[in-house]
Amino acid sequence: MKRPTPPIEWAEDHIRIIDQTLLPTEVKVIEIRSADQAVDAIQRLAIRGAPALGAFGSLALVVALDEIEPESLPQAVARLQECRTLIGDARPTAVNLRWAVDRVIDEATKNVSDLVSLRSALIREAQAVAAEDEAACNEIGRLGHELLRDATVIGTHCNAGRLATAGTGTALAPMYAKARAGEPLHVLASETRPLLQGARLTAWELDDAGIDVTVVPDGAMSSTVLSGQIDAYIVGADRIAANGDAANKIGTVGHALAAREAGIPFYVAAPTSTIDFELASGEQIEIEQRDADEVHEIQGSRLTPKGVGALNPAFDVTPNHLITAIITEAGVLRAPFKDSIAEALGQVGGI
Ligand code: MRU
Repeated sequence: MKRPTPPIEWAEDHIRIIDQTLLPTEVKVIEIRSADQAVDAIQRLAIRGAPALGAFGSLALVVALDEIEPESLPQAVARLQECRTLIGDARPTAVNLRWAVDRVIDEATKNVSDLVSLRSALIREAQAVAAEDEAACNEIGRLGHELLRDATVIGTHCNAGRLATAGTGTALAPMYAKARAGEPLHVLASETRPLLQGARLTAWELDDAGIDVTVVPDGAMSSTVLSGQIDAYIVGADRIAANGDAANKIGTVGHALAAREAGIPFYVAAPTSTIDFELASGEQIEIEQRDADEVHEIQGSRLTPKGVGALNPAFDVTPNHLITAIITEAGVLRAPFKDSIAEALGQVGGI
């Protein structure tokens, strides 16, 4: 079987990524060789999805260091410190980005004696971030598969699959597991305006894997749920507060409300690296506000009358009481989330 093009790949002195803005029309791999190119790729969503941002941001530190050709260790360390915000804060909501950048810099600069070993330590730690994410996806897939064994029609929003992680995805990992087990499966992917991650990316990657997927306009999803056509929902997350409130792509909370009304489970799937234990509740999560032109236009064509305004918050927060369970690599967490999250983070050494 043909190996799918990896969304992120380290190539000795540069990073190769699929430019996700062009999917599904074109599968184009672009090369990232500087911090500015990395920040640009993050901000225009050429690379996206919380865990993928963590994996990519980690490798971006290496190109950011190579770019300045440092002559001394203090100069190199100063450059990395600068990258904590330059790269780590390129997008504000997905905590994995800042988490991974901080982790890789902290680990690589610990007890380092020269420039060569600093660079090797950065690569080693960045690869560990990606490997751990891949393992987390596998475990989330296994646990989610158990929960979704009786579900045939599954709803999802945005893209939380292999394009958004260093593995098989978070919300989509259980779908891949179900497909591998030969279980009947039909995924309803909401289109996810304004940037259409559901229609473009989830539809592309599931179809590519031979999984039956139907794209549903965002506005048609609630009536589809309420008329009993969906067995369960599973979505990803960009940041989960200590009380289980979960930020994810704008529109997610509407799906959660519809799921609650219809009496079907609403699962959030995320690695523990997406949990921000320092935030007591979702009210404290910073929501990225993006350019209004993403709403005014679709792929370069103007939709709205010139002169009208547009709101473009990129994420919303689903309150914990609408979430049936949070599926992590450390187990399936249920209410009271404050306790189950603290226990899970304790297990993985996160607090
Ligand atoms: O703006 P995006 O495309 O980066 O938003 C991505 C999402 O909201 C995903 O659901 C989330 O990051 C989880 S990815 C495993």
